[in-house]
Parts: sequence; structure tokens; C-alpha cells
Amino acid sequence: MRVLSGIQPTRRFHWGNYFGAIRQYIDLQGDPQSAFYFIANLHALTTVRDSRLLRQLTLDAALDLLALGLDPNRATLFVQSDIPEVTQLCWLLMTGAPLGLLERCHAYKDKKAHGLTADAGLFTYPVLMAADILAYDSDLVPVGEDQVQHVEVCRDLAASFNHEFGETFVLPRAKVLDNAARVPGIDGEKMSKSYNNTVEVFEDVPAVRKKVMRIVTDSRPMDQPKDPQSDPLFQLYRLFASPEECEQMAATYRRGGFGYGEIKKALADLATRYFAEPRARRQELEVHPERVREILGDGAATARKKAAAVLQRVEDACGVRSW
Ligand code: TRP
Repeated sequence: MRVLSGIQPTRRFHWGNYFGAIRQYIDLQGDPQSAFYFIANLHALTTVRDSRLLRQLTLDAALDLLALGLDPNRATLFVQSDIPEVTQLCWLLMTGAPLGLLERCHAYKDKKAHGLTADAGLFTYPVLMAADILAYDSDLVPVGEDQVQHVEVCRDLAASFNHEFGETFVLPRAKVLDNAARVPGIDGEKMSKSYNNTVEVFEDVPAVRKKVMRIVTDSRPMDQPKDPQSDPLFQLYRLFASPEECEQMAATYRRGGFGYGEIKKALADLATRYFAEPRARRQELEVHPERVREILGDGAATARKKAAAVLQRVEDACGVRSW
């Protein structure tokens, strides 16, 4: 049984990324063979068109993940482009990928709908993602709701290849990440880079504090009781608080007669406490980028071994090897 997922290094991670995805990947780690996580720099190249920035974001993503608890003894961490077998496999899958299927995929469809020009990279993005998944005989792919369609495309491509050439690919399943912990941004909408309402995980503490103080709150008189569940500030507080702290805060809301300023201070303190250890780990790693590169190198070696075996099997099946 192998779990696999990829994360695009298009920007630094924010609280929404952490609670919505990263923390859940980390919870699924077990041993290096059963959990593969990679930094999808080839996918990011469809949007990040600056070589220095892409290099930086790739290394930052690795540092962030390691600092947040991704453990190289319990998972294999690597960079997508270090596995050339994946792009080779991508071509083999491309030959059997119906255009209609790709036209229905939302990344491309949305861009088209906005009147933007799309390139072949964006159009064939789901095929590369299918190659990522199939290259390692992955069984389970934890992804956000928005990526489920792509895992379905992967299953379709794998199934039709198997149908044409005989059983070759393992069919993966998507595991939809739990988004019960909805993470609001500082404007109360869903936290998302496109809304410009994010708080970054490793932003420095004063900057986090400043953003927290800007979180929107309602303007009802302070002495009135309030429903904690409908308040974005409380929803954020809940993510960082212990169950007891959470219960106490909910009681304060229901009682009324409190100031939002105090709660914001409490939230900033809790968030600081919550990420204190990762922050310290990250600072330690920052001064030893060679350690991070070594981890990624070892990860790539492990991943490549598997991908090479799968690629051979696929090439044999479709007749482009040992001719
Ligand atoms: N497309 C995914 C995203 O944007 C990232 C990704 C690339 C991925 N390849 C993958 C996720 C393979 C899971 C499996 O979030």
C-alpha cells in the first residue's frame, strides 16, 4: 500500500495549506516505502516563469515540509523533476489521452473561460499528474476536493492503457482531504492566495500578529452574546487551541461582554506557540541547506528505483522496449 501526493511550490505555505493539506499528509506518513511526497516543480513551471524564484520556492517547500514534521525516516520526500522516468511515462500516457477528457479538466477550462491563453503544459497538466501517480504504483492519493477530477483522469488513462495492452498499471484511489476545519482568511472568506487574505506559516511573528489584528469582526455591541461557530476569528482560534481553551473561549462568546482585541491577541499567542517548534527546526535547517539537499537526493534515489521498474513494465507492455 503506497500513499502519494504532490505539492506545487508556487508560493509559500499559508495556514489554509497547512490545516487543509500538509498536516494531513504528515499524519499519513508511515515508512519510506509506503508514503511518497514530492514537490511538483514541473507543474509549478506552468505558472512560475522565473528560474531563480522557482529554485528558491522548491527549496523553501522542502524546508517548510521538513520543519512541519515530514520525517524522511517515515516518508520519501523528493523533487518531481529529479525523476526523469515520470516525464517519459507522461509521453506514453499522452498517446492515449483523449482531447475531450483534457478539455473538461478545470485548470484548463477555467483559464479558457477567463479568456486567458493556455499553453500545452496547462492543457496536458493532468497527464503529467497521472504519470506522477502511476510511476510509483500508488494506491492512495490524498488531495483536496479540487484535485479529485485529476485523479479520476489518471484512473481513466490507466484503465484504458490496461485495456489496450494488458494489466500494467495499478489503479489509484483519491482520498479527499478533510476540509471540515475550514480555514477563513483575515477577511472572513476562505483563506486563499487569490483573495490576498492569507497568513503564511513561517512569516515572522510580528507580521503574523499584525495580520491577526486585522481579522474582520462584526460590529455588534460588545456586551451582546455571540455565536462562536459563525465567527471567523473563533474558527481560526479553534485550529490552534487545546479542547479546553476552545471550550473556554466558546463560553466567553456565549456570555458576551468581551473585546475582539483580546481574542486576537490570544489567537496570535496561540499561533506563535503552535508553530514555535517548526520555526526553530526551520531556522536550524536554513543554515544547513546541504542536509536538505541530501534528504531530497536520497528521496529521489528511492523514488527513481521504483519509477524505473514501472517504466520498464510500461515500455514492455506497449512495445517501445526490446524491439
Ligand atoms: N496538481 C496538484 C495540485 O495542484 C499537485 C500534484 C501534482 C499532485 N502531481 C500530483 C497531487 C500527483 C497528487 C498526485 O495540488
